[in-house]
Amino acid sequence: MVILSVTGRAPINIAVVKYWGKKDERLILPLNGSISGTLDLTHMCATTTVAISESFSEDQFWLNGLECSLSARFSIVLEAIKKRALENETIDREKLSWKIHICSKNNFPTAAGLASSAAGLACLVFCLARLYNIDGDVSGIARLGSGSACRSMYGGFVEWMVGECRDGRDSVAKQIIPANHWPNMAVLILVVNAGRKHTSSTSGMQTSVQTSRLLEHRAKLVVPDHIDLMRGALLQKDFQTFAQVTMKDSNSMHAVCMDTYPPIHYLTHVSHHIINLVHSINNYFRTCKVAYTFDAGPNACLYLLDDDLPTILSLIRYFYPKIQNVEEGGTDDDACRDGDVDEFVRGRKVKVDAVNEELINSMNITVLPGALSYVISTKIGDGPVLLSADDSLLNLETGLPH
Ligand code: DP6
Repeated sequence: MVILSVTGRAPINIAVVKYWGKKDERLILPLNGSISGTLDLTHMCATTTVAISESFSEDQFWLNGLECSLSARFSIVLEAIKKRALENETIDREKLSWKIHICSKNNFPTAAGLASSAAGLACLVFCLARLYNIDGDVSGIARLGSGSACRSMYGGFVEWMVGECRDGRDSVAKQIIPANHWPNMAVLILVVNAGRKHTSSTSGMQTSVQTSRLLEHRAKLVVPDHIDLMRGALLQKDFQTFAQVTMKDSNSMHAVCMDTYPPIHYLTHVSHHIINLVHSINNYFRTCKVAYTFDAGPNACLYLLDDDLPTILSLIRYFYPKIQNVEEGGTDDDACRDGDVDEFVRGRKVKVDAVNEELINSMNITVLPGALSYVISTKIGDGPVLLSADDSLLNLETGLPH
């Protein structure tokens, strides 16, 4: 059986100027532009194999080991890629009619609510483009799958242009700076211990568009300023401006969520506690050492510089000590502040300083044992990469998962 296949890997991205609200639901055209950092593929990524064969009898999709039905968004992306391939005659027509097998997995818990759809759709588009020999930018096709996915098509810091064309032609992603332009930019993801399900970003932003007047103000006035300031901060590696705009933009998006009727609460008391902690740290040092940002859930993403990682991590471990037995009703005494760093802080290995007593005493912040499940330490990284046939998630003789 002849099977043509491609395997690739794509990163997640965390916005520092947020996308919240569409002006066209079908084409996924945003009300405002947005900017994000692409995170290192080593620690968080989606891996996908796409394969076509004359012998396949139906399109099939497996996600994290389970067969799933092909979602409407996957089908839209598949159609858009095939249309581009047909127009540009990049592959013979017959092969375009062959059925497809898609196998995908994430190396981070989808339940943690960490932009898995962006990485998954970006990876699918990246692999399909290679499979059908499409050159050039395909971020506009990734956008059709999930808006934020278009930014995962590039590394470093990336802008999703708001665009002016009604057909969305110019609403594409463009790299502002590559990862190596600001190599000491670090990222910590604070995974908040929260079981409940949140309103999805797709439906949350829909309700905001319908009901929030504050969103009009944000999209017209607040975001364009933030985009200009952020572009400049990135090009000049100006962490003060970068940090302030990141925090203000996150607060602005969540203010819109609060202004939505009925209001949407993505931030929990732990999220607010993290916000206070970051401002206390920045106040103590009289300069911005760290910036927070929150998407459609309670987890915090902190942007900071490498030199400050040991201090900031020591504070996170101090204020959010791990509890051994949360389920059994652990008490403050169970908190293991000096436990295994690797279990609590995953990903990129970093040194943790001893806590600065003077700093802790100067802060009026309570300790919240068990508030975080774990921390992922990572950095800004590159865009999607092609993997070899050895990394295929499908058996290339049968076309089925291994
Ligand atoms: C809060 O890209 O998930 O993460 O386009 O409906 O798929 P759809 O929405 P999605 O929205 C992400 C929103 C956000 C902010 C951001 O990433 O810019």
